[in-house]
Amino acid sequence: MNPLPGRVRIVEVGPRDGLQNEAKAVPTEKKAEFIRLLVAAGLTDIEAASFVHPKWVPQLADAQELIARLDPAPGVRYSALVPNMKGLERAISSGIRRIAVFTAASETFNRKNINMGIQESIEGFKPVVDRALKKGITVRGYVSTCFVCPYEGAVGKEKVAEVVRSLFGLGVDEVSIGDTTGAATPRDVEITGGHLIGQFPVEKLAMHFHDTYGMAVANVYQSLQLGFNIFDSSAGGLGGCPYSPGASGNLATEDLVYLLDRLGIASGVSLKLLRLASHFIAGELDRELPSRVLKTN
Ligand code: HMG
Ligand code: MG
Repeated sequence: MNPLPGRVRIVEVGPRDGLQNEAKAVPTEKKAEFIRLLVAAGLTDIEAASFVHPKWVPQLADAQELIARLDPAPGVRYSALVPNMKGLERAISSGIRRIAVFTAASETFNRKNINMGIQESIEGFKPVVDRALKKGITVRGYVSTCFVCPYEGAVGKEKVAEVVRSLFGLGVDEVSIGDTTGAATPRDVEITGGHLIGQFPVEKLAMHFHDTYGMAVANVYQSLQLGFNIFDSSAGGLGGCPYSPGASGNLATEDLVYLLDRLGIASGVSLKLLRLASHFIAGELDRELPSRVLKTN
């Protein structure tokens, strides 16, 4: 067995992946306060917003106003999703310095999500990434449905590697491997994660688990054993709209930090301060969040 990494970088996606799925929209100034509390807890990579079509994701329609309200903090990077050139133009005028483009390893899912085939999306991202990089904006890439697609079933590791390679070919500096439906198990992670680690630098690959089947923490442990050391998670396990059966939030940041703390792996995040951020946003949403660790004292 490989030694576990000594340090892990957490990419907090609660303000974007979490809030995009919540039934209740949160006012811009409350989102800004939530993000301030996340920074205070030690989170340094925060996906704050999304420049997709506001009709599809009305919860994040205030991206521009929100980014204008974020306090610059040393060592903290805020980022936002960008699906196309129109989204990039909006991102540039907001002043954000990091964006993320996103595609999938399943053709059907990608069409349903962004109305484009996989190859078409990669071609569409090329001028977007080029323009962003010229502006000094750094770019992350996402691949959704890396393990299971809700429409096509099991997704092959070769297909995932092919899409990851295309994204790196565009010039993104990191690719996040998405278990969009939260259906992956540690065995799936071993197969696909092991395949990717053999082909790409591990310091440029993040794991992005959703917790639909309660597998997210087990999947993190499997990933750590493979050498992965960047994980996406959302405070409190935000997301998973209670009115939409089957939808589920991300791996909760508290659950991730508890595991890392107990394994002696540094993350720079204070569980105590993180709880304050999660309780704050739970209050705004007027619901209990799913994180198991958050429910303890
Ligand atoms: P489309 O309808 O194909 O776009 O949508 P279009 O290019 O044909 O344009 C249609 C109209 O939309 C035009 O306006 C455009 O200007 C406008 P009109 O001329 O008709 O007045 N438009 C926009 N307006 C604002 N911002 C934009 C934009 N783009 C076009 N960026 C599009 C394509 C991608 C925009 C749409 O399908 C969309 O917004 N989808 C939302 C997808 C989304 O947010 N999904 C969730 C995030 S991904 C995720 O959660 C997975 C992840 O967490 C990883 C994992 O878990 O796997 C990352
Ligand atoms: Mg996600």
